[in-house]
Amino acid sequence: METESLTGADADSETSESRPQEYLADVGFDELALSPEVRRAIAERGYVHPTPVQAKAFQPVVEGRDLIVRSKTGTGKTAAFGLPIIERIDRGERAVRALVLCPTRELALQVATELGDLSKYRDIKVAAIYGGASMRAQQDALAYGSAIVVGTPGRVYDHIRRGTLKLDGCRAAVLDEADEMLNQGFYEEVTRILDCLPKDRQVLLFSATVPQDIQNLMARYTRNPETILMSGDVYTVEHIQHVRFDISDAYPKPRNLIYVLEMEEPENAIIFCNTRDDTELVTAVLNRNGFDAELLNGDLPQKERERVMGKVKRGEVAFMVATDLAARGIDISDLKYVINYSLPEDPAVYLHRVGRTGRIGKKGIALNLVSGRELSTLTALERKYGVVFEKREMPTPEKAMELWTERHVKEIKDAAAGAVYEGFLGLSSTLKGRPDADDLVAFLLKYFFSHHRMERVQALREREAERAKREEKKERPKERPKAERPREKEKRGAKLEPSGIRLWVNLGRMDGIEDAGLVQALERAGAPAGKVQRVEMKGTYSYLWVPEADAAAFEATSGKQHGEKAIKVERARR
Ligand SMILES: Nc1ncnc2c1ncn2[C@@H]1O[C@H](COP(=O)(O)OP(=O)(O)OP(=O)(O)O)[C@@H](O)[C@H]1O
Ligand SMILES: [Mg+2]
Repeated sequence: METESLTGADADSETSESRPQEYLADVGFDELALSPEVRRAIAERGYVHPTPVQAKAFQPVVEGRDLIVRSKTGTGKTAAFGLPIIERIDRGERAVRALVLCPTRELALQVATELGDLSKYRDIKVAAIYGGASMRAQQDALAYGSAIVVGTPGRVYDHIRRGTLKLDGCRAAVLDEADEMLNQGFYEEVTRILDCLPKDRQVLLFSATVPQDIQNLMARYTRNPETILMSGDVYTVEHIQHVRFDISDAYPKPRNLIYVLEMEEPENAIIFCNTRDDTELVTAVLNRNGFDAELLNGDLPQKERERVMGKVKRGEVAFMVATDLAARGIDISDLKYVINYSLPEDPAVYLHRVGRTGRIGKKGIALNLVSGRELSTLTALERKYGVVFEKREMPTPEKAMELWTERHVKEIKDAAAGAVYEGFLGLSSTLKGRPDADDLVAFLLKYFFSHHRMERVQALREREAERAKREEKKERPKERPKAERPREKEKRGAKLEPSGIRLWVNLGRMDGIEDAGLVQALERAGAPAGKVQRVEMKGTYSYLWVPEADAAAFEATSGKQHGEKAIKVERARR
């Protein structure tokens, strides 16, 4: 059988080469009582050997015990609770048997996907239940019969209240990121949900950080729990290098970030900010400077959040600028760098943020921009968690200028490669001798960079749109539920004949953009792009049709920058 070939000495030696010893359990998957279906799914996911937490948690979970587990970021906790939970559920089960609660929608979706992959050969369905997504689709998934439900507390409770989620047969509740789930923001909702489960349910609490006060709180919701603290008192992930840059006051903070990026040249990174405003500012500055960056914060519509996460996970964007929405649990394979634009106040948040890299034994680097205000977090991290920071110097303004110049020259050279421009060499040398040479070249540079960068973003967008179209074609079920059809039709109709109002925008083809680029520019400026019904591009301006109710949100982008230009949106005159 397929799974048999993956056991034994060969497989073990293969993993020990690619994964450090401390990420390998001292038993193999063979020694865990796994069904052939789950073994097949594990093999398909490429898991050859369990991680220590997976081996350690398996038996107590299968026995139905309550568990509190602390294991570092990226050590495979999802499968550690997922595998035994799946094994405890009968094949073809349709009643809800396990409920997994996560602090963010992104994490709920990720965990549901992993559990879905692991249980796919056992005829078990996994439903992802989170806010901002269609209630109806979730109701359908629940009505169809999902034995495992993964969700965020607010939406899960919504379904309980409506009677669409019945938990009377639910035997296990998992709090992924347990300390966060029992923190102020979630406590009430989570405990209210737990109260809807049968009294004899099993409760499993997993996190990379379990502070003492939370541990005490957990004791209230568990019965005689087994506590598993992997790695004892060590919280830091060995393979993550922590670097500290004391920021320079000689230039603004976003410039500090740009110089760090220019010096370190990370190929990809999550850049964490403490506020949504900062995420917006940083994303705008990065894009203006030719870095490929996307924004993720709680202000974005859910569809946009999923689009950005999808792009980041597929490696299609280099930098994701995020709030702590992305700090917990999010798994991005091969993410090399985490950058803290500001340090979080809570040192535990730091551990979770930097834990987005260095997963499953891979190497990672955390770059931290530190100002005087953040020294207390830094000291707490050093004292409490033993984080060792390597200090690197910010460049002097002269060095920074040199780096900046080099990067721009490289961008021009890359673009010029293969282009035929010899015909202009004569003009170029004449220009150099003119007294207005600086002005002329400055204009050419401005023109080049804004167009070149916009073209790049647009090409990416187009590729993405094509990919999405292909996926949609692949995924579109042959028969859609009848109830959905009129709405779909409505949507398509709306595109052909816009029912909304017409807005005038001061961006047009002359700004080097087409329809998609215009919508994207407004989206970046904060408009709900999904609401655009139709676009009509002109040379220096465009018309947009949007629902009346959303017009204000589009008008509110007036004054925001698109490249060097301040956007202007007004209701079009009839
Ligand atoms: N046995 C295994 N072999 C190989 N890869 C694995 C194994 N178990 C899990 N992984 C992979 O390791 C990565 C980290 O797993 P996971 O997200 O479950 O970690 P975690 O401990 O929950 O981290 P965090 O604390 O950040 O939530 C994922 O990409 C997952 O697919
Ligand atoms: Mg996790």
